[in-house]
Amino acid sequence: MTNPAIAASGLRKAYGDKAVLDGIDLRIPAGTVFALLGPNGAGKTTVVKILSTLISPGAGSGGISVGGHDLAADPQAVRAAIGVTGQFSAVDGLITGEENMLLMADLHHLSKAEGRRTAAELLARFDLTDAAKKPASTYSGGMKRRLDIAMTLVGNPRIIFLDEPTTGLDPRSRHTMWGIIRGLVADGVTVFLTTQYLEEADELADRIAVLHRGRIAAEGSADELKRIVPGGHVRLRFTDPDAYRAAALALALGEATADDEALSLQLPSDGTQRDLRAILDRLDAAGIEADELTVHTPDLDDVFFALTDAAVPAPAEEAVR
Ligand SMILES: Nc1ncnc2c1ncn2[C@@H]1O[C@H](COP(=O)(O)OP(=O)(O)OP(=O)(O)O)[C@@H](O)[C@H]1O
Ligand SMILES: [Mg+2]
Repeated sequence: MTNPAIAASGLRKAYGDKAVLDGIDLRIPAGTVFALLGPNGAGKTTVVKILSTLISPGAGSGGISVGGHDLAADPQAVRAAIGVTGQFSAVDGLITGEENMLLMADLHHLSKAEGRRTAAELLARFDLTDAAKKPASTYSGGMKRRLDIAMTLVGNPRIIFLDEPTTGLDPRSRHTMWGIIRGLVADGVTVFLTTQYLEEADELADRIAVLHRGRIAAEGSADELKRIVPGGHVRLRFTDPDAYRAAALALALGEATADDEALSLQLPSDGTQRDLRAILDRLDAAGIEADELTVHTPDLDDVFFALTDAAVPAPAEEAVR
């Protein structure tokens, strides 16, 4: 593999006697999206802050390199190579969106003309031109988040850290943000993302790591992670108690779970056409029709809950009819 954009070995950090990161290895190829998942307090922001030089790695950490620069030896070079959009907005609400952008241009030592050109370009790209002259405090959450990322891009960084870029955004703004992130990747930018939304990691990330108890509990592509946990099943719901009981008999409920209250049956299934047909054939043969059939394929939620042993919520289901 060519030089990774980000590499860290044995990353550690403790606050007092509480170990937050307990030996984390990362290797993120350039031009890819890496998503770090983990429950609240898992240490995602801590990882971002260490990799972006905002806080120092803990004692006993191994080497860290970002953008080909050794973080301990040359933090300044690392800072020049990256952009960071923190979990909490860096936008100054008292000044306008444009002024926020020009401030960033100043920080990057762009000339006045270059700064104005960059600001105008990025404001347009993030659909903020109309709002550019208004105080940022009047922006909606989605607009503020877009401005936040636009500010991060002023120095044209090749590696960007996005700490929960879509938390609190509505579905439309979230999709807009996904488009923005895909655009960055298409330009060859490496994206290090943290998120609470498993769907987001599924959509965007080439590789996903789940942080739990200070370690990476699992790492892989979304598909690889989904294969770790079983959980695919078919659920049949009935309104007629007689039909429900007949179905339970017909399906010889060895491997199924019955819920007498909800009149529903849950059978392990890989969701393939052949598997569904076998189930429906058995129902047809007994002259029974289910009122509802849903197929549940394991998703990242299953992986997340299996790995972080939080309480398992009601499964999300895809209605077939
Ligand atoms: N400066 C600090 N002093 C003491 N403890 C801290 C400090 N910063 C973070 N922690 C603790 O480290 C742990 C990890 O925090 P971190 O912010 O990295 O989690 P996170 O995964 O980003 O959580 P969230 O999803 O809520 O943003 C938490 O238990 C937090 O309380
Ligand atoms: Mg955080």
